[in-house]
Amino acid sequence: MDNNKPTIAALVVAAGSGTRFGDAQMPKQYAPLLGRPVLRWSVDALRAQGDVGVIGIVIQPEHRATCEAALAGIENANILIIDGGATRQQSVRLGLDALAAVAARPAHVLIHDAARPCVSAALLHAVCDALRAGHTAAIPALPVTDTVKKRDEDGAVTTQSRDGLFTVQTPQGFAFDAIHTLHRQFESESLTDDAALLERTGQNPHFVTGQRDNIKITWPDDIALAESILSSTRADIRTGKGYDVHRLVPPQHDLHKLMIGGIIIPHDKALEGHSDADVGLHAITDALLGTICDGDIGMHFSPKDARWKGADSGMFLQHAAALLAAQGGVITHIDLTVICEMPKIGPHRDAMRARIAELLHLPLRRVSVKATTTEGLGFTGRGEGIAAEAVVTVRLPFETPADMSAHSTEINTATRKAI
Ligand code: CTP
Ligand code: MG
Repeated sequence: MDNNKPTIAALVVAAGSGTRFGDAQMPKQYAPLLGRPVLRWSVDALRAQGDVGVIGIVIQPEHRATCEAALAGIENANILIIDGGATRQQSVRLGLDALAAVAARPAHVLIHDAARPCVSAALLHAVCDALRAGHTAAIPALPVTDTVKKRDEDGAVTTQSRDGLFTVQTPQGFAFDAIHTLHRQFESESLTDDAALLERTGQNPHFVTGQRDNIKITWPDDIALAESILSSTRADIRTGKGYDVHRLVPPQHDLHKLMIGGIIIPHDKALEGHSDADVGLHAITDALLGTICDGDIGMHFSPKDARWKGADSGMFLQHAAALLAAQGGVITHIDLTVICEMPKIGPHRDAMRARIAELLHLPLRRVSVKATTTEGLGFTGRGEGIAAEAVVTVRLPFETPADMSAHSTEINTATRKAI
């Protein structure tokens, strides 16, 4: 192990059999969740947390191959796979024993249920901060807001006071030696969380504010709930910008018309270009390509390529939209600004919006077209050309924190090469 690594270790307990989840073949921690096994979400969240060094993953021995498959592609010498026990408490104890044996014995440990894949970076930070502030135990807690009722075996129902009641989650953070000692001391007991061991010796764990959507996958329909939480909280919102200019010239032939925003605008001049020179659609196309970092319109449709001579720019636009869609992206908004003195764009604005919306299968309310003059200044002011600017907003599928750190590594490598 690397002695320079941070001194907060993590232990992910994944050795349960998920009886309530009910899939005997595939315990819930390996169930697919938006294309990644449930366990992988927690591991990725922990890997992206800069403070966490070693990550121990406690599993049932017969699931080693399944676990390794779930961790595929992670090149990290700091991951330990540890065989667990019959109860959660035994699994944690065995995990702590294994972490205690690594060369750089950690000062702190985060103990986390593999069954909580929606854990946020903010919650991990909060627990780590509380540990650094000197708390022996820091646990995420939320006050109970529902009314709590108790039903006895004989069916008698009584309402309990919820005053002072909290539900607690993982990750729970501890001073490593303290929690390891307690786990050895109370080995024979079976408690459902680790902080309970401190309470047995009269110590109070410190509460950090829990994360309301840090659900523990317990029942089969919790997968759908976790999917909706992850897809909304991890959505990858991007903005792309496009800019284009074409020269205004007298029409070169009968079919040479002024095209802007996918429609013909009656005017005594037309835009010059290899394709139909639709400056508005070109700007939107470039903005779309920008959201997926896929070059620009000239790279996809070279002005030297005879195939695109006189081409309908709606096709360029739809191609860029298809590239975005292939990555699971959805356009949420388009804002096009056309910059010219003449012709007046206002009377054609709604037709342009309708055409762009039609080309992209978008509702009209998501497409804006604006226009401005440049007060007679510059090439647009002199009527030599028309410019257009577009800003588009798209939503790509969630990206895990680990994906993000992988990308930054790529960039760092590329930057180093460039230097
Ligand atoms: N766990 C463990 N070892 C055990 C039992 C549970 O590592 N012997 C882990 C589970 O994998 C889970 C966490 O402890 O990540 C919380 O336990 P729970 O939600 O109860 O999971 P299961 O015990 O697997 O589910 P069930 O109680 O429905 O059987
Ligand atoms: Mg259990």
